Amino acid sequence: MSSVLIVYSSTDGHTKIICQRVTNFLNEGNLVKLLPLEEVKKIDLSNFEKIIIGASIRYGKHSKELYKFINLNKNILDKKKCDFFSVNVVARKPEKNTAETNPYINKFLRISEWKPNKISVFAGKVDYPNYNFFDKYIIKFIMFVTKGPTDTSRSYEFTDWSKVDEFSEELKVDY
Ligand SMILES: Cc1cc2nc3c(=O)[nH]c(=O)nc-3n(C[C@H](O)[C@H](O)[C@H](O)COP(=O)(O)O)c2cc1C
Repeated sequence: MSSVLIVYSSTDGHTKIICQRVTNFLNEGNLVKLLPLEEVKKIDLSNFEKIIIGASIRYGKHSKELYKFINLNKNILDKKKCDFFSVNVVARKPEKNTAETNPYINKFLRISEWKPNKISVFAGKVDYPNYNFFDKYIIKFIMFVTKGPTDTSRSYEFTDWSKVDEFSEELKVDY
């Protein structure tokens, strides 16, 4: 039985939901703890055999806090062969939904000193009704330009849950 820590960097909660799904998947046979990035500072990472990080994109970037966490804990992450996935809406496009073709994974690997063991990317959610005025119309414009949905009275979830489960299955093999 392995002890696994899953850390999420999420603004609107969708990455947390994906991490909860991974947690439920890995929970059989492992001891899995799920924590937001903000709370993980208080935790001794050496207590875990594996660490998985899921992080969403906002205006082209993973959060600064994510990079701070990674830089601070790089040695531990390297030792434990930890895994990473990104959540963004560009990944709804088939030509941008793999670790090799997603621009935010490429950017992450260029910026981050840490090279994760397994990497994936999942399409996120456009949740117009819950966005503030500014975000709603910026996202609507981006969706218009990228041929996505523009009806701001609705939410659109692009996540392929079977892909999330396949990734979780791959992670299980390591434990
Ligand atoms: C203000 C805002 C900016 C966003 N910027 C981008 C972006 O630049 N590229 C992208 O692919 N997705 C972008 N997204 C989509 C988010 O990555 C997607 O909604 C994701 O599911 C959010 O995850 P979270 O709920 O865990 O924060 C943006 C979403 C919002 C609300």
